[in-house]
Amino acid sequence: MNKIAVFTSGGDSPGMNACIRAVVRSAIYNGIEVYGIRRGFNGMINGDIFRMESSSVSNIIQRGGTILKSARSKEFTTKEGRQKAYDNLKAHNIDGLVAIGGDGTFTGANIFYQEFGVPTIGAPGTIDNDLYGTDYTIGYDTAVNTAINAIDKIRDTADSHERVFFIEVMGRDSGYIAIPCAVGGGAEIVMIPETKTSIKNVVETLQTGWSRSKTSFVVVIAEGDEEGTAVEIAAKVQKEIPRMDARVTILGHVQRGGSPSAADRMLASQLGIACVDGLLQGRACEMAGIVNSQLVYTPFIDTITKEKAINPSFSQMISILSV
Ligand code: F6P
Repeated sequence: MNKIAVFTSGGDSPGMNACIRAVVRSAIYNGIEVYGIRRGFNGMINGDIFRMESSSVSNIIQRGGTILKSARSKEFTTKEGRQKAYDNLKAHNIDGLVAIGGDGTFTGANIFYQEFGVPTIGAPGTIDNDLYGTDYTIGYDTAVNTAINAIDKIRDTADSHERVFFIEVMGRDSGYIAIPCAVGGGAEIVMIPETKTSIKNVVETLQTGWSRSKTSFVVVIAEGDEEGTAVEIAAKVQKEIPRMDARVTILGHVQRGGSPSAADRMLASQLGIACVDGLLQGRACEMAGIVNSQLVYTPFIDTITKEKAINPSFSQMISILSV
């Protein structure tokens, strides 16, 4: 392997830059030429490919977002799009790829390998932490800390006005962001897609709280919860408790930005190096991850199809801690 390229794809996450830096520097350390591809698979299709040196990644380890930009590519889902991407890689003699992204990225890279034989090793870059094959994804720790900081501020005003706050956090179909936000943010209720919490449960918990002289409440809702969005859930509860003084806060994309935490910088650096090592070892279509403090490579197909189950006792913790 003489020339590799790195790209970021899908939703960005804090720590992607630290990972790009690790890939570039580790490639150079191993005597390999390294290229950057802008805007994920779209850049591959449009030939937006450029040579990277050690200085290309100076002063980025602390920056959120991704210097390579990111996109979700529709064109790469077509055979014609993938053919163009392959032609551009061939023109640069690129013989290996490092993809920093989530399950959509790895699905694309898997198909690309089957059709054109270009090996890809992935680093899990998503705030959602929903990928099988790693305990934590790059950006998750920062996103949770960002959300908890916001929840702390909301608690102040919730307490002053004796209100119920319904706070929606990201996570797509997973409750991985919601759980530590609820535990660490001192919430009374958490609602996640993996565990059913009915409107009746929410109403009962609030009533019990008031009967025990609690005056303010925080309900953390994962955006994928089956009872609906925070706005819809608040409206349903309001219907049952007309006297409730409620507000809704949707934390949104604030969770995707900001300087990565120390844990995310460490993880991103470790996995960036592991991606280059994986390519050098002749691996393909595998994601580098850390499980129980050990570096592991997991086939893309498993990261996409296998479920990373949430420990059910985490939801129960909220009931215990908010008694
Ligand atoms: O996958 C990361 C994520 O932030 C999810 O939590 C969220 O559902 C989605 O991306 C939002 O995507 P977009 O930035 O395209 O609105």
